[in-house]
Amino acid sequence: MKRIFIVVLLSLFLMQAQSQNKVLSPTPPMGFMTWNYFGVDFNEDDLKTIADVMVEVGLVDLGYNYIFIDDGWQGGRDNKNNMIPDPKKFPSGIKALADYLHKRGMKLGIYSDAAQLTCAKYTASLGFEEQDAKTFAVWGVDYLKYDYCNAPQDVNTAKKRYKKMADALRNSGREIVFSVCEWGNRKPWEWAASIGGQLWRTTADIRDKWASYAPTNDELHRHGAGIFDILNINANLDEYAKKGAWNDPDMLVVGLYGKKGPSGDLGGTGCTDIEYQTQMSLWCMMSAPLMITCDVRNMNEATKQILMNEDIIAIDKDELGKQAKRVVKNKQWNVFVKELKNGEYAVAVLNVSDKPSKSNFYLSELGLKDKYLAQDVWTKKKYKCFTKVKQNFAPHETKVYRLKKK
Ligand code: GLA
Repeated sequence: MKRIFIVVLLSLFLMQAQSQNKVLSPTPPMGFMTWNYFGVDFNEDDLKTIADVMVEVGLVDLGYNYIFIDDGWQGGRDNKNNMIPDPKKFPSGIKALADYLHKRGMKLGIYSDAAQLTCAKYTASLGFEEQDAKTFAVWGVDYLKYDYCNAPQDVNTAKKRYKKMADALRNSGREIVFSVCEWGNRKPWEWAASIGGQLWRTTADIRDKWASYAPTNDELHRHGAGIFDILNINANLDEYAKKGAWNDPDMLVVGLYGKKGPSGDLGGTGCTDIEYQTQMSLWCMMSAPLMITCDVRNMNEATKQILMNEDIIAIDKDELGKQAKRVVKNKQWNVFVKELKNGEYAVAVLNVSDKPSKSNFYLSELGLKDKYLAQDVWTKKKYKCFTKVKQNFAPHETKVYRLKKK
């Protein structure tokens, strides 16, 4: 009897330890986020249609399995202080939407803020962390983006407020991925994983443009951060990323083409398809979350080709979970090397300049000393003996090669 008791106790203990050690988001989360396309103007039918299209065109099969609801879903609190959705936008409630998605192999992300009001001035979670986390769990929510508008500037308060929600989510009875969104202002890469976050934004909000070239994150908040500005911050943070703990350089602007709305502000007048392909390439090299924000119901061929290239997605989702290192950085070129499973590598070369340019990099200069077979991830061209990247590049173009030892 005593023995059985001990065995039961031991297995309970082991189960507990296992669930605490479980990596909640072993690959970077992927899906569709409402913010850049809809702003705060969306409803349950919009999101169901988006989900249906994502299943139909094959985005879900490729791994884009989340609908991330951003700011604007909230309808305040009921007389028991439970958070409720805007009844006009979500007449069937959030649980019904979560059920709808789960039936289709998808997941639901939701949004709140560590203050009384969110960035767009909707009801937020400060003081109601446990209650809101339970509500999200009961609804079947799988992910929470937790913003930091209207909250004090200091890092200690930020850590405290984020930990409070992380703990509440962990005790909510459901596995909910926690996304820390304080825009890199307080170096979240140094603390977000240890307080219970699976990803953390590293910069100001992305706009649909190549670059403002503002030198600091502070100034990027004012001038608008483009793809290249964000790359320049996020690329330096490779050592902080690992399986289940990701740098988040913000949403994909691929396919927005200067659409009005949040990504259209602060000079977000749109990018070329080459620049969009560069964003996809480098976000995947950096093991970034992939949040599509263009209208997936009306993607053109170029947008589909960029977002739905399974070889580049495989680099993002690689099992090792390592973010690429930037091994060359000058006015003309950036070169990235990412270690992949089975001793493979991905190499990405970006022409930073505004002119067409020809590269000439020996792999041995990049620290890759073996003989390799290679494939260009975008053109699919194969190389039997790949020793250097000698190629013509359009302005802002990135080429990516997957290398296998010979
Ligand atoms: C902040 C975030 C954005 C978005 C908006 C919503 O600006 O950084 O990603 O969530 O709030 O209001």
